[in-house]
Amino acid sequence: MARARKIVVVSNRGPYRRERRQWVRSAGGLVAALHPMLSSRGGCWISAKHAQNFGTVEDEPDVAYELADVRISPKLQEGFYMGVSNAIIWPLLHSFPATMHVADAPWDKYVTANEKFAEVTAANSKPNDLIWVQDYHLMLVPGMLREKRRRARIGWFCHVPWPPWSLFGILPWREQILEGLLGSDVIGFHTREYVDHFLDCVDRYTDYPVDRVRGTVRLKRRTVRVMPAPIGCSVERLSELSAADDVAEECAAIKADLAGRRVLLGVDRLDYTKGIPERIRAFKRLLDADPALREEVVFLQIMVPSRTDVAAYAELKEQIDQLVGEVNGRHGTTGRVPMQYFYRNFGQRSLFAHYQAADVAVVTPLRDGMNLVAHEYVISRVKGDGVLVLSEFAGAAAFLDDAVQVNPYDIDGIADAIQRSLDMPMREQKRRMKKLQSEVQALDVHRWADDYLKALEHG
Ligand code: UDP
Ligand code: G6P
Repeated sequence: MARARKIVVVSNRGPYRRERRQWVRSAGGLVAALHPMLSSRGGCWISAKHAQNFGTVEDEPDVAYELADVRISPKLQEGFYMGVSNAIIWPLLHSFPATMHVADAPWDKYVTANEKFAEVTAANSKPNDLIWVQDYHLMLVPGMLREKRRRARIGWFCHVPWPPWSLFGILPWREQILEGLLGSDVIGFHTREYVDHFLDCVDRYTDYPVDRVRGTVRLKRRTVRVMPAPIGCSVERLSELSAADDVAEECAAIKADLAGRRVLLGVDRLDYTKGIPERIRAFKRLLDADPALREEVVFLQIMVPSRTDVAAYAELKEQIDQLVGEVNGRHGTTGRVPMQYFYRNFGQRSLFAHYQAADVAVVTPLRDGMNLVAHEYVISRVKGDGVLVLSEFAGAAAFLDDAVQVNPYDIDGIADAIQRSLDMPMREQKRRMKKLQSEVQALDVHRWADDYLKALEHG
């Protein structure tokens, strides 16, 4: 049998970060998907290393694959990560052009950082390896690598949505970005919709012929395949975790603390794309309409700190603090508040205990590439009950038909969906959850990697 080719993953964010002299798993769907994939297949993960970790002799995180670093200085980080990736490209790809400031963008820093990633990748890979570049921070890397290695097999995967051509076209560097991405052999997106949007952009802003039926772009010497490849969670490992005794014990302790109230749960990185204020307003509207509910339900919102140096994120935190204060100020009683929120990263066991304690998961991003929290909630439901309220603008909505789908901008609509979920008879909960579980199982992360890497290896 031919030896499997080595996988070299390249992303800005690495699997672990240093926190109080300990290695902590990084937050977000990219790491949640790639860590189990590389742990089972082996390979190398190339990611950014920041100044505070330069030159320090430390232990490495304990992982079953190789690690390599791209050193990013504070100045470069400010321009590449904060100034362009987070302040411009992230909002643009999520269809939030109003929060972007394109005019003075430090685009040169984005180019420099991408060059550094391409150099380190070339130095840490062999011609026969499968190079798999990830996400919007590194859209020039495939083209830069292609110049160094004409015959390399290079993939790029987009963990976020891809917007319609008229939005993407706002970027002054749109042609450069498309050229960079087309250095790949295979470009993957979560959904067919994002694939179509991307092909529209290529059609509009380059001269390369697009074949929509085959999903290909014809370059002079190569053909690039553009495919839907929906990501999933690590079904087997997370099912085992969900069946663990200590998770059940922690779930029981959470429920005991909440003294029989039914639990609504939100879990998100603190990000303006996640629709957290809208969700809190919807909960407030429910309580305003029926104050007796405050004795019966509690809303737990887990928020993981994210990109705290970017102004829009700091402002959002203040807005949420205020909204939670309004809900609890109006509806709290002595020793009991209807909304509790946690602003920290939870470990996986504790997170799954919270999923299991939740009667209803409220997953209402305004826009999201996929949303793995929705998958994880479904996998955690070992007893087959529970209701998933899901935004129709999350990629997951294209696959999870049996969720209660909502327009995340429609406050009354979310409030109705929560009420309907709380009222849903057990038989209907179980019928829907059974279908959701088979839908989530079909989207397993290892199947995602198999499909994608097969396409990358064989064209
Ligand atoms: N997550 C976590 N700790 C937390 C909350 C969330 O590790 O306290 C993980 C969660 O398990 C999920 C990921 O963060 O795998 C979030 O991925 P998702 O696709 O929902 O959103 P993203 O953060 O990538 O936008
Ligand atoms: C999303 C992005 C990832 C990113 C993660 C966390 O999942 O698709 O590329 O790593 O958010 O964001 P951060 O800026 O902390 O890496």
